[in-house]
Amino acid sequence: MADWVKVATVEDVPPGTLKGVMANGTPVVLANVDGDVYALHDECSHEAYPLSDGELDGRDVVCIYHGARFDCATGRNKALPAVRPVKAYPVEIRDGEIYVDVGA
Ligand code: FES
Repeated sequence: MADWVKVATVEDVPPGTLKGVMANGTPVVLANVDGDVYALHDECSHEAYPLSDGELDGRDVVCIYHGARFDCATGRNKALPAVRPVKAYPVEIRDGEIYVDVGA
């Protein structure tokens, strides 16, 4: 069952940026790609540093620590040193507020 948690407003995450938030105690990084918002678990699968410390390059979330890349929509690992994906969470926008379902 979906468990939507309000984590931010759209204004908090301008296009081309990342923002780290918490949803029911789970760290989440939001990514705004040209107005579409995505959510990944905010922990790099390489050495568990926050992905929200990094940057968004197109659709890739780039880890600032050692350069791993993840697809912002799926969490798929796209560049070493990460060899595992990170979890992607469903996102909904309601009246300019961002909701994430970390229980899915
Ligand atoms: S902690 Fe992210 S690439 Fe190493």
